[in-house]
Amino acid sequence: MSSARADTLTRTRQWRGVIEEYRSLLEIPAGTPAITLREGGTPLVRSDWLSGLSGAEVWLKVEGDNPTGSFKDRGMTAAISVAKHEGAEAVVCASTGNTSASMAAYAAKAGLKPLVLVPAGKISAGKMAQAILHGAQVIMVRGNFDTCLQLARALAWDYPVALVNSVNPIRLEGQKTAAFEIVDFLGDAPDHHLLPVGNAGNVSAYWLGYTQYRDLAMATRTPVMHGFQAEGAAPLVTGEPFPDPETKATAIRIGNPASWKLAEAAREESGGDFTALSDDQILAAQRELACQDGVFVEPASAAGVAGMLQALATGTSYAGSTVVITVTGHGLKDTVTALEGFGPLVESVVDADVRAAAEAAGLA
Ligand code: F0G
Repeated sequence: MSSARADTLTRTRQWRGVIEEYRSLLEIPAGTPAITLREGGTPLVRSDWLSGLSGAEVWLKVEGDNPTGSFKDRGMTAAISVAKHEGAEAVVCASTGNTSASMAAYAAKAGLKPLVLVPAGKISAGKMAQAILHGAQVIMVRGNFDTCLQLARALAWDYPVALVNSVNPIRLEGQKTAAFEIVDFLGDAPDHHLLPVGNAGNVSAYWLGYTQYRDLAMATRTPVMHGFQAEGAAPLVTGEPFPDPETKATAIRIGNPASWKLAEAAREESGGDFTALSDDQILAAQRELACQDGVFVEPASAAGVAGMLQALATGTSYAGSTVVITVTGHGLKDTVTALEGFGPLVESVVDADVRAAAEAAGLA
């Protein structure tokens, strides 16, 4: 090998995944070997659009850049590593699609048998394909996510399968690394953090990460946490479970979040809030984010952006502050919902002829 090439190799260090990057800060059993797909290390992309609208420095934490396309990989590397280390042979989760996609991938990597419980007919095709291709046994349940989670808990209780939903505290240990990365990049915690909330594991995990960094003096402050739910599935906003949650943002179609208490603590301690948004607001934000900033996220993932737009429209000022919005999953997860409202997919079909193409494009 030429010395120039060797020099390049030593200078390009691959991100090791969240366990090895942050092991000393994670509450996982000592010596747990990391089962990783090199998750985490996701970009903070400056939103010139939202920064311009608000007078704030607005950053998007783009979690769709994780290996299976959502933030779930952070918690899943931790949960699967520990399950494997402790001798599990099979793992189970309830999911609205992303947890199951992630669990199936990490279980495949670990040589564990993945069992997935999902609400029948309410999972996007992309997420379903992920679970199936990674070798999961997928069981469709007549019911919603909350029913699936009850079943998963009961199965893990009665049978030799390890539960890896975020009721497993190891999941939050992995997920809190997103807060570490944000502080490591910005040099301190932001003033405000906005994100979608479903089962409420992620908002709880971010709060865990931010408070841990503050306590270690890695940050001088913690952000105000702003969580956003869909109107048809907004238990943390109303204070009551939703027995029949409904929203096009299927990832957050959850009526009785497992981490309810932790999420309320994060809201209270941070001086934050939970707000409900209509499906139209969420889908409009998804489209605008894609057009303005070039970032394509799935519907649920746009809730934080929709929340910021609503706050600005109702007179809240973020001017002069630093804002982070987590966009939780990739747009390719659910292209069907993304294209609803665009009418026929192909607007114009022309012969292979320059004049015809130019006319169709309005150039001629
Ligand atoms: N965004 C996306 C894309 C999600 O998939 C989820 C949750 C959330 C936000 C909400 O995060 O539950 O921690 O409050 N998806 C879970 C799943 C429920 O099964 O994939 P949360």
